Amino acid sequence: MKGLLSALLVAIATHGSYASPEPPNPPIRTIHTFPNNTFLENIAVRANGNLLLTSVTVPSLFTIDPTTTNPPAPALHTFPNATGLTGITEITPDIFALVTGTWDLSTGRAALGSIAIWTVDFTTTLLDPTSSPKVNFVTTIAESTVINGLARHPTNPRLLLAADSARGAIWRVDVLTGAVDVAFEDAALFTLTGTESGKNLGINGLKARVEHGKGYVYFGNLAKGLFGRVRVDAEGGKVGDGEVLATRKGVVADMEYDDFAFETRKNVGGRKEGHAVWMAAHPSYLVRVDLRSGEQWVVNDTEKLSKPTSAAFGRGSRKQERTLYVTNGGEQVEGNLVNERLLAVDLGGC
Ligand SMILES: *[C@@H]1O[C@H](CO)[C@@H](O)[C@H](O)[C@H]1NC(C)=O
Ligand SMILES: *[C@@H]1O[C@H](CO)[C@@H](O)[C@H](O)[C@H]1NC(C)=O
Ligand SMILES: *[C@@H]1O[C@H](CO)[C@@H](O)[C@H](O)[C@H]1NC(C)=O
Repeated sequence: MKGLLSALLVAIATHGSYASPEPPNPPIRTIHTFPNNTFLENIAVRANGNLLLTSVTVPSLFTIDPTTTNPPAPALHTFPNATGLTGITEITPDIFALVTGTWDLSTGRAALGSIAIWTVDFTTTLLDPTSSPKVNFVTTIAESTVINGLARHPTNPRLLLAADSARGAIWRVDVLTGAVDVAFEDAALFTLTGTESGKNLGINGLKARVEHGKGYVYFGNLAKGLFGRVRVDAEGGKVGDGEVLATRKGVVADMEYDDFAFETRKNVGGRKEGHAVWMAAHPSYLVRVDLRSGEQWVVNDTEKLSKPTSAAFGRGSRKQERTLYVTNGGEQVEGNLVNERLLAVDLGGC
């Protein structure tokens, strides 16, 4: 007995850490592979389970029913005066807001004056699901060169919060009036670190949540490799200092956090609660961050995950709620972007 205990202590001392081994990768399936040069950027999920996908290099909103076999990905709507779309968020049941712009992938910026906000309303398609959603122009964010993540204000459905990855700011957009201004900036949490790829995008993914009656925005900063949150007031203003909840430091040095999804899990009372986020991280990672312990579980799959840009859980059935959908930005091969896939990660057993 004593011998066994010493052997264990020696084993622990030799490995220098109590860290448990990483669990095996969850199963990852390809749902759809998009044509070359379709840099997928963001996902929103309708209540009927259909996914809405944006691409920075194609000015169309795509839809996919991920529950069918080999589903097609038709374009629902193509936006004028734009080369691609970025953030998308549901603002009220089955009405979404999204960002369009004229993008230059090499610089990660849009032409000044080109960034616009639109709404896409599916409530008009309820009686006839084959009809097109109603698309409305809201406003331009004329002074920004890159709006990346988009989130509805945690409590006010009229307000959008939009992450500016160049300025290190969150813009506020009133969907009814089209009024636009900077809600707040945060040099420590939101800024970029340089001009090269990997450094030229600061605040990136953005999600809003209410916790214990208080509104928060959660964000990833790609350049700084950090994930955090800031409390916001009813008008989208900043309350207090933000908090860093996770960093790549000491985890994976080359990891670039992009957009993310809250993991929901029913607790005993049947209320949904987020214990963790799943982040898409370049070049080939998915990272689960436990929001209580800060522990990170890094899934690394260089074959399937090709510059993953965003993640979202399915809706509808229990199985869909444990399926994480992930978009790939893709990688350059001989002048083309390839491997722009929609993937499904089955977390049922995890
Ligand atoms: C597209 O841009 C042109 C030129 O700036 C402008 O005249 C036109 O109204 C725009 N179209 C839409 C639908 O915004
Ligand atoms: C991820 O996998 C690739 C390919 O096997 C490997 O080169 C890379 O080091 C891995 N990253 C980490 C953090 O282990
Ligand atoms: C996609 O890009 C790759 C790499 O450049 C190329 O080999 C392939 O032929 C392209 N596919 C199509 C359908 O053009």
